[in-house]
Amino acid sequence: MRRFAFLFSIPFLCLCALDPSHAHAKEIRIGLITPLSGDVKTFGESVRNSFMIAVDEANAKGGVAGMRIVPVIQDDKNDPTEAANVANLLVNQYRVSAIVGSVTSKASIPVSDVIQAAKIPTISPTATNPKVTVADGKRKDYMFRGCFIDPFQGTVMAKFSRETLGKRRAAVLYDASNDYSKGIAEVFRDVFRKLGGNVVAFESYGKDDVDFSALLTKVRASQPDVLFLPDYYNKVGLIAKQAREQGLKVQLIGPDGWDSPDLVKVAGSAIEGGYFSNHYSPEDKRPEVVAWVRKYREKFGQVPDALGTLAYDGTNLLFDAIRKAGSDDPRKIRDALASIKGFRGVTGKATLDGNGDMIKSAAILRIVAGKQKFVEMVHP
Ligand code: PHE
Repeated sequence: MRRFAFLFSIPFLCLCALDPSHAHAKEIRIGLITPLSGDVKTFGESVRNSFMIAVDEANAKGGVAGMRIVPVIQDDKNDPTEAANVANLLVNQYRVSAIVGSVTSKASIPVSDVIQAAKIPTISPTATNPKVTVADGKRKDYMFRGCFIDPFQGTVMAKFSRETLGKRRAAVLYDASNDYSKGIAEVFRDVFRKLGGNVVAFESYGKDDVDFSALLTKVRASQPDVLFLPDYYNKVGLIAKQAREQGLKVQLIGPDGWDSPDLVKVAGSAIEGGYFSNHYSPEDKRPEVVAWVRKYREKFGQVPDALGTLAYDGTNLLFDAIRKAGSDDPRKIRDALASIKGFRGVTGKATLDGNGDMIKSAAILRIVAGKQKFVEMVHP
């Protein structure tokens, strides 16, 4: 009965209180917004899995601040309109006290506007675009994130290309309709130039495009020695494959959006040797990482990606804030979240800055023999 309580109405929840086995158990509803279908499904699944590990662990210890956590999970399909709809549903119908989500910046920006108006504290574990927490220079004070932001990530990859790989001529292809893709493309372009590099092609495509041959012909004519692809794995895989089919041989690099086992499935060997920035590496030997990889593997039979790992940390950070607030009152939870310092998670130690963003290190990974290999850590 308890398991389905959140699916029905509040009176139904109250009936549960009559069950003598948890006569005094208070409940707190926590929403999760994640893309369980659509073009970044692997992101959504690992976030859901990891969120549920954190919820189950907390409930097994008696809940947080004496309250049993009732998760309410919604699929945003990585679609901005759908994301706003499910955020409204969580806020108005399920009356959650706090939300974890969404996963991509594209979905998290509309979510942030809904939760800010409703004053429901929300943490996106993974969305890196600056607009998630700030609009027109103004901080959305109910919105937080558990990861670094794209100005840092774009800088890391531009420097890596220029200084570590010694590249001189960069081409960039990005999705003009996706804030994440466009934002990081611009940072990369500006930093690469500042470091003395040439940006020989800077071209965009639309969100539904599947044929990149014309763009790739342009890219090829510009004779780049590095091609930056700031998008999610399905698009990147397609572009990489078509580039290879055209005989374009150039070093590929990208941001965290590459982090999916499906990247290699779509791109095949065309993505081999590509470098990308990410939030953690499962090869990290710190005991927290080793324990986490073991735990996730036992439950889900695979190595956790960065998204899942950030989701586990972000959910636990929210639980810490609820403990500190000692309440299910959204305003008190917000204040507690804003005051957290030096939280220790699997992805490392982190403090939220004044914008609700996190200062954290980036990991550079490389696709070698179809697998992600750790290259180096870059500290802020
Ligand atoms: N940073 C991406 C975004 O904002 C989401 C993402 C995080 C993808 C981590 C992969 C790994 O859209």
